[in-house]
Amino acid sequence: MNRRLFLSAGAALPLSAQAPTARIAVIGTGNRGRSLLTTLARMPGVDIRALCDTDPSALDRAATVAVNHKPELYSRGENDYQRLLSRDDLDAVVIASPWKWHATMAIDAMKAGKIAASEVPIAQTLEECWQLIDTHERTRVPCMMLENWSFRRDNLAVLNMIRKGLLGDMVHCHCAHSHDCIDHWFFDPKGNDRWPAEFLIKRNCDQYPTHALGPVLSWMDINRGDSFATITSNATSQRGINAYFARQFGPDHPNAKKIFAQGDIVTSLIKTQQGRTVVVNYDMQLPRPYDNRWMVQGTLGLYDEDKSAVYLTGKSPKYHEWEPFAPYQAAHDHKWWTTMTADPNAGHGGTDLLELSKFIEAVRLKTPMPLDLYDGVTMSSVIALSGRSIAMGGVPVPFPDFTRGQWKSRKPYFGV
Ligand SMILES: NC(=O)c1ccc[n+]([C@@H]2O[C@H](COP(=O)([O-])OP(=O)(O)OC[C@H]3O[C@@H](n4cnc5c(N)ncnc54)[C@H](O)[C@@H]3O)[C@@H](O)[C@H]2O)c1
Repeated sequence: MNRRLFLSAGAALPLSAQAPTARIAVIGTGNRGRSLLTTLARMPGVDIRALCDTDPSALDRAATVAVNHKPELYSRGENDYQRLLSRDDLDAVVIASPWKWHATMAIDAMKAGKIAASEVPIAQTLEECWQLIDTHERTRVPCMMLENWSFRRDNLAVLNMIRKGLLGDMVHCHCAHSHDCIDHWFFDPKGNDRWPAEFLIKRNCDQYPTHALGPVLSWMDINRGDSFATITSNATSQRGINAYFARQFGPDHPNAKKIFAQGDIVTSLIKTQQGRTVVVNYDMQLPRPYDNRWMVQGTLGLYDEDKSAVYLTGKSPKYHEWEPFAPYQAAHDHKWWTTMTADPNAGHGGTDLLELSKFIEAVRLKTPMPLDLYDGVTMSSVIALSGRSIAMGGVPVPFPDFTRGQWKSRKPYFGV
């Protein structure tokens, strides 16, 4: 498997051996950080110089993953990442800490002249979104949110189909993050709070919009010819968390009665400046298999991820009947995937390998990040904006224009 990974990473990164090595640090080496590190540590042209985590046991587990790189370890408290950032031998940091740290760490990294790649979401508040943009524009240091679903093979093939005009003019999208995270992520399997539980207690919003929105931004040329204008959001009441604890641990468990601010399902409707709409669902606390329910619809037809099907007027053989997506994926496969040996053992079926390869390639060649920061903050701003809309009974709330008007003239770039 190591050899396959090495080969596939090498194929994904057709760089000359002369390109400088990317000197990387990882901050936050829990589950996600360790997974990213596993992929990074096997990539050619990557030198893992430092790792940082407040939890020494997480750091030790991560160190064994990158043992060949002999990284220096930083574990002297929650601000020790600052000491790591003061090193003069780092090109970039990968941030996989808890949500509340992402923006602060990415901003501090840019101020220290280090390229920042943050796990999702990159910001929790609108203030953090603007601080990220302001710091990025002032320092000119690249910064990227690691939204891996933008890089998924099916999503990139759909992007190619849209760019070739098969779906006509874009009109509408549907997307969701439907992932039951109650028994292993918000809480541990014994029912104890993990750090994300705090967010279920204190706020009611779309807590995790970026996986749903990632491909939608590129499909709809958001921030590149179109822009999110307003969002209206509504939340159901919370029943799922209490029901889970009562079912699993008995009705006397404190969390079986506790008041959580977060509703079970949040449905948002985004309107764009060019008159398009996007429905976004948050759905992370009811029992269900994983789902994203992507659907993208244009004047010539539509793609439905759930059905794995398309219907294209004048092209699909039968009137108003779906046809399978698989032949379209094969015909419109993205070059990022056809030049890479997909490895199902790499994170998320090879998607994380592709995402990190494109990030490392940009670090080594000093080229723009594959996903720009304007897209990262636009996706993340849905957390704060949906919360505002819900609190005001579902009224439309305007999106800030993080591009400061540039969306009108910026050209599509992702995967071009
Ligand atoms: N893109 C994806 O597919 C994907 C998948 C899973 C998680 N994530 C994201 O990754 C992030 C991490 O999630 P996780 O599940 O790995 O959580 P985790 O709790 O397993 O890991 C977080 C780690 O950060 C450490 N940490 C906390 N404060 C720190 C600080 N100040 N300095 C350094 N380290 C600190 C913790 O000790 C822990 O080891 C989250 O933002 C999550 O949303 C993304």
